[in-house]
Amino acid sequence: MKSIKIQLNENDIPRQWYNLAADLPTPLLPPLGPDGNPVTPDMLAPVFPMNLIEQEVSAERWIDIPEEILDILYRWRPTPLRRAVYLEKHLETPARIYYKDESVSPPGSHKPNTSVAQAWYNKQFGIKKLTTETGAGQWGSALAFACNLMGLECKVFMVRISFDQKPFRKMMMGTWGANCVASPSSETNAGRKILAEMPDTPGSLGIAISEAIEEAVTDPSGKTRYSLGSVLNHVLLHQTIIGLEAKKQLKIAGEKLPDIVIGCAGGGSNFAGLSFPFVADKINGADIKIIPVEPTACPTMTRAPFAYDFGDTACTTPLLAMYTLGHAFVPPPIHAGGLRYHGMAPLVCQAIVEGLLEPRAYHQLQSYKAAITWARTEGFIPAPETSQALAAVIEEAEKAKEEGKEKVILVNYSGHGLMDLLGYDAYLSGQLTDYELPEEELKKYTKDLENLPKAEMRKTGKW
Ligand SMILES: Cc1ncc(COP(=O)(O)O)c(C=O)c1O
Repeated sequence: MKSIKIQLNENDIPRQWYNLAADLPTPLLPPLGPDGNPVTPDMLAPVFPMNLIEQEVSAERWIDIPEEILDILYRWRPTPLRRAVYLEKHLETPARIYYKDESVSPPGSHKPNTSVAQAWYNKQFGIKKLTTETGAGQWGSALAFACNLMGLECKVFMVRISFDQKPFRKMMMGTWGANCVASPSSETNAGRKILAEMPDTPGSLGIAISEAIEEAVTDPSGKTRYSLGSVLNHVLLHQTIIGLEAKKQLKIAGEKLPDIVIGCAGGGSNFAGLSFPFVADKINGADIKIIPVEPTACPTMTRAPFAYDFGDTACTTPLLAMYTLGHAFVPPPIHAGGLRYHGMAPLVCQAIVEGLLEPRAYHQLQSYKAAITWARTEGFIPAPETSQALAAVIEEAEKAKEEGKEKVILVNYSGHGLMDLLGYDAYLSGQLTDYELPEEELKKYTKDLENLPKAEMRKTGKW
């Protein structure tokens, strides 16, 4: 019988993270400050510790993973690479489907790969408390988990719609000792302002980020910093352990490089974590189709302009060059709460501009259908975010069948859905609907970008 769980020994865990910034054929546009000039590392110092800022701006290809971080990651890493043989059989596809199972971490997703690293670097820097935002609650629970291990206080602003839809995540955060409040909250100026204007708002990641940054930078002791679960270069860097492990595991499975690499993308971190080591191969000539997947309700990569925009609603972050639906964008309350961010990681966006990635959007119903097929074949119940990627996996596997080609498909199984069963219930009882962002909405939210600096789309034209 073929091995369907490809395990790595602890000794074989990657000891360095991979930094795509070193290999991108066209460099990232710099983040800009309020005066329109590039931000300098010291301008970010009230928000992040300097050791993480150094990683954020690093152009080194490989960055050592400190031994103490590895010691914590061993609790669940290396994660298994599994072959989805039951799905393959069900689809009668000649494709070989592999999934990197990030759902086995204590909080149930890829997020602790960076929360542990970020909490460790903050602790080294003498920080006592971290603040953050969370959408689906996956990131908030991952940071709560990491802060608890590191002895740091943790405060989480959770997007209101998820706070109401996903009470169990809030309880997980409490179990790990964190304080979780619904955003917008009445605890910050940014939250109070939004509540006065839109008392019934479902909230957004942009608003929650504003609140978390405000709470960090206004701590008079100077011992609080903000921690972001996606989007930024150092976050994507910490996630590359996923793809580096997967590469070794594919080799053990007797495969060369995959033909297709797929991940869902909210801020871009799990997608980047799996795919960037393969993007490097593509830059060096390999023929790999690399697909970041998003919901049609929040079509950042597939329909939004590439522009400079703020990362948050209150316009407190530096301007990032990215595909963006506009910082005021309030997405509809779809169940994939972690895929509702208005922007996208600049590294992912620059790779799209270069033509290295082929973004795709799926409707909510198609992704739930894929999730049900997955659960009834593979057995595991995926997170709603992960299900978006699985919709693409099934589509590609069916295409391989039509073409009669033995494609190797690799997907990031970014999290389990055991805390997201209300979404499944809504789907199974026929209450979910599809939603495609109307063109007028997109125009309305992106109008704000007209007054911001323009982002030049630089590409070599090789892909
Ligand atoms: C299970 C899961 N997958 C994917 C995402 C999307 O985030 P990112 O694009 O940073 O990986 C989230 C975000 O909360 C998540 O919880």
